[in-house]
Amino acid sequence: ELNIKGKDLLTLADYSSETIEGLLDLAIQLKNAHLSGEETPFLKGKILGLIFDKPSTRTRVSFEAGMLQLGGQVIHLNGQELQLGRGEPVSDTAKVLSHYIDAVMIRTFSHKKVEELAEHATIPIINGLTDLYHPCQALADLLTVIEVKGSLNGIKMAYIGDGNNVAHSLMIAAAKTGMKLAVASPKGYEPNAVVLSKAQEFAKQTGAEIIVTNSPSEAVVDADVIYTDVWTSMGQEAENEQRLKDFEGYQVNEELVKGAKDDFMFLHCLPAHREEEVTAAIIDGKHSYVFQQAGNRLHAQKALLVEILK
Ligand code: CP
Ligand code: NVA
Repeated sequence: ELNIKGKDLLTLADYSSETIEGLLDLAIQLKNAHLSGEETPFLKGKILGLIFDKPSTRTRVSFEAGMLQLGGQVIHLNGQELQLGRGEPVSDTAKVLSHYIDAVMIRTFSHKKVEELAEHATIPIINGLTDLYHPCQALADLLTVIEVKGSLNGIKMAYIGDGNNVAHSLMIAAAKTGMKLAVASPKGYEPNAVVLSKAQEFAKQTGAEIIVTNSPSEAVVDADVIYTDVWTSMGQEAENEQRLKDFEGYQVNEELVKGAKDDFMFLHCLPAHREEEVTAAIIDGKHSYVFQQAGNRLHAQKALLVEILK
């Protein structure tokens, strides 16, 4: 019993270590069931609404396919097609949707907007990425590390790049599960200070270690996992040219990975830009597990949906 029935997932900071670990166990069970062709119609009659204010491939298709595999259904609620797009308050939208469907997954810019939706909805709200967090991604990332490395115990991850949504969720996830995580970002692109202090607070209870640095070579020392994300996130396209300059030296390439363990694994939430944040040799090479990781979005989110909705 993971105790999250009816609960939102806005950030993993709101979930206990036991709940996160339980979700990962269930994800493995659901993945095995899926691979062996076993049916898992735990959410028959349930409807998930999907709101996307930003593009998506993985989040969109994995939530939709996951819901269908669980015997439920989805309704796409394109932000611009709702009255929300014409200025109807988020709070009214939340109250109305709560009468029709069983949960909402939302991908948008402002984390505040998702908090407001959750505050006024009586159904669970799932964060499918905001500018602050990407909790569903972090669940799939942990699952992939467990599959490849056997467990999270004693694992060191190095995250190289922008200290924003994906990095923030990794910080919280690592802190909650006792991992060691070193985040290396350029000056001006370090993780949010509030998120960092939250992560460090959780780390005290689990024995995790969360380090923030400006040095990629320092971060990767003895790393079991090297992780990166795009330098220009959705909504930041106007800053692209400046960011290409500011992130110079933060590329994950053959030279940088020399500092990591010989059997390090490479992860990236995708979509990726080859020869920007990572070379093709790394992301398409033998250390890379990015497609297994993308696949695990499906299984991690199915576990979440089952526990929240069943
Ligand atoms: N990693 C991820 O969230 O991918 P999408 O933007 O394709 O959903
Ligand atoms: N940091 C990226 C992640 C995409 C999944 C973005 O926000 O665009």
